Amino acid sequence: MSDRVYGELCKQVYQRSRIFLTAEKKQFLTSRLEKHRRQLQAVDWDDYLHVLLCSTASFEMDNLIDLVATNHTYFFREPSHFDRLREGLLSTLMGSHGHAQSPLTCWSVASSSGEEAYSLAITLAEYNRLIAPLEWRIFATDISRHALKKAQAGTYTQDKLNLPSVDLLARYFRRGTGRYEGQCQVKRVLQERVEFAQANVFESKLPVPERSGLIFCRNLLIYFDLASRQQLISKLENMLAPGGLLLIGHTESLFNVQHQLEQLGGGIFRRSH
Ligand SMILES: C[S@@+](CC[C@H](N)C(=O)[O-])C[C@H]1O[C@@H](n2cnc3c(N)ncnc32)[C@H](O)[C@@H]1O
Repeated sequence: MSDRVYGELCKQVYQRSRIFLTAEKKQFLTSRLEKHRRQLQAVDWDDYLHVLLCSTASFEMDNLIDLVATNHTYFFREPSHFDRLREGLLSTLMGSHGHAQSPLTCWSVASSSGEEAYSLAITLAEYNRLIAPLEWRIFATDISRHALKKAQAGTYTQDKLNLPSVDLLARYFRRGTGRYEGQCQVKRVLQERVEFAQANVFESKLPVPERSGLIFCRNLLIYFDLASRQQLISKLENMLAPGGLLLIGHTESLFNVQHQLEQLGGGIFRRSH
């Protein structure tokens, strides 16, 4: 792949997703795209670029984003976030909004294949079962069509379900039998409260409520440049309900990003008013 074609692909990816590909990612992108290019019967990279740019629907662009996006995730990733929600933050959140009456609205901004949203769903359902009544709803979005399909199906191999306790498996998953042996599907009691939709978080119209009490935006900021991180955090700050919480990944920070959020430590931030 020539530097010219690579530069154009980076530009397209950035315009569509804000994912910022550096020059070092050229080899990564080439190897990820090679098989797809051959399937498209594009004779070379110029031909591929031509197909990409001439494709009237956004279908080919979505394929490119699917291949570029890193969808790596797992259940109860960065578990201290779920622990802290259970051990006090949810009670504070409910207290500040009277959420016992109105549902707590949550948003998983880059939900990938759904593990984050379902981990949160389990945490909220367990809170409701063991601690205090809680009405809740989760909206989960991701730019990757491929990842979302998996999220919507809610089916995972059992050895990947690293849940904090074995009871949770029986309570919230149906175990497959016969040819589905080893597969587990999220039960309806959770699935009907989690709504997945494809969305680029930078779009002006998003398929989520205008305000959320809890926003998970974890392991997404790392893909963006400072200008995009600033734009995203300002947007999320506005979309938090007063007293609401924003959670970012443990390896991420809001360093050099302007905001009015109160830092609670460990990648947790609160909107005060
Ligand atoms: C590493 S995964 C993070 C998944 C999960 N939040 C976690 O922490 O385990 C990053 C996700 O961000 C998504 N993504 C990248 N750019 C995006 C954008 N502009 N809008 C929405 N999702 C995006 C990717 O498709 C990918 O699924």
